[in-house]
Amino acid sequence: MLRHFVQILDFSSEELQKIMQLTALLKRADKEGACPRLLQGASLGMIFEEPSTRTRVSFEVAMTKLGGHALYLRPGEIHLGVRESMKDTARVVSRMVDVIEARTLKHQTVLDLAKYSTVPVINGLTDFNHPTQVLCDVFTMIEHSPADRKLQDIHLTFVGDATNVCVSLMFICARLGISFTQAAPEKYQVSAEHRAMVADACAESGAKLTFTDDPAAAVSNADFIYTDLWWWVGQEDEIPERRAAFMPKYQVNAELLSKAPSTARFMHCLPASRGVEATDEVLDGPQSIIYDQSENRLHTEKALLVWFVYPRLKRPSDALMEHHRGLVEAFLG
Ligand code: CP
Repeated sequence: MLRHFVQILDFSSEELQKIMQLTALLKRADKEGACPRLLQGASLGMIFEEPSTRTRVSFEVAMTKLGGHALYLRPGEIHLGVRESMKDTARVVSRMVDVIEARTLKHQTVLDLAKYSTVPVINGLTDFNHPTQVLCDVFTMIEHSPADRKLQDIHLTFVGDATNVCVSLMFICARLGISFTQAAPEKYQVSAEHRAMVADACAESGAKLTFTDDPAAAVSNADFIYTDLWWWVGQEDEIPERRAAFMPKYQVNAELLSKAPSTARFMHCLPASRGVEATDEVLDGPQSIIYDQSENRLHTEKALLVWFVYPRLKRPSDALMEHHRGLVEAFLG
């Protein structure tokens, strides 16, 4: 069965941990300048309906390091939903590439791409979730935890709005057994609908989820404190209301960080609105691991690409390669 990476909950704890082990292997190889060219000759189609720095650069560089090639495809340059249905785009592009990465405004668009694609589709962020980001985040949390720390003993506190990243973090924590707390005004906490989606995962993994409007209490036992933007594209009309709801109580600043254990690390998926959801002193401070997170997007994308594409690639023998070369050379005289 063709599998896609559109939703964390589609994957078992064992599978997610295997992908993170692969990430560690590929990161170590890369650090030694010896990234294996496992995807030689393969192509990645990258569909972006929205701008991106980390997702675009990490996928493109990952593909290059693995010996493959990436194409940046955006509306206005391909017939994406204009003059051509998503169904036809998915069918046509997947006849020519080995894997598709897509950042789309609506989650349904990625689901449609996956439905009609004949190659794996990787979700590069939608209005619902951001699975590649949070896989990278947990990998980064493990890197910054003592070697003997079990996932079940890690506590992540998210301070701020129930963004697609926040919801995805809740999903991956539920799957892996990590304790997850969100501190936000009640109106901006993860919806009942999204919480219900992880009931079975929590029962299986033992993950504890907490939702509170008290950020100081929420960070008091946190190993990792995470925040994200308070508003996003399309929410411009809500900025005054959102700013009033979150500022200053939910801003991650030195005062809030002082309520956390001194060993707590600060995380942000970026881009950040400096001075809004987090201050410079925290973003640039000694507890911040935001750039380790960013770099780990590259290593995570390499692992995802290898995981999904390598088993599907044909690896012809030298004899078969010679046979076809001979046929073409004979034809050309
Ligand atoms: N965190 C993240 O996805 O960043 P970009 O929007 O730059 O890709």
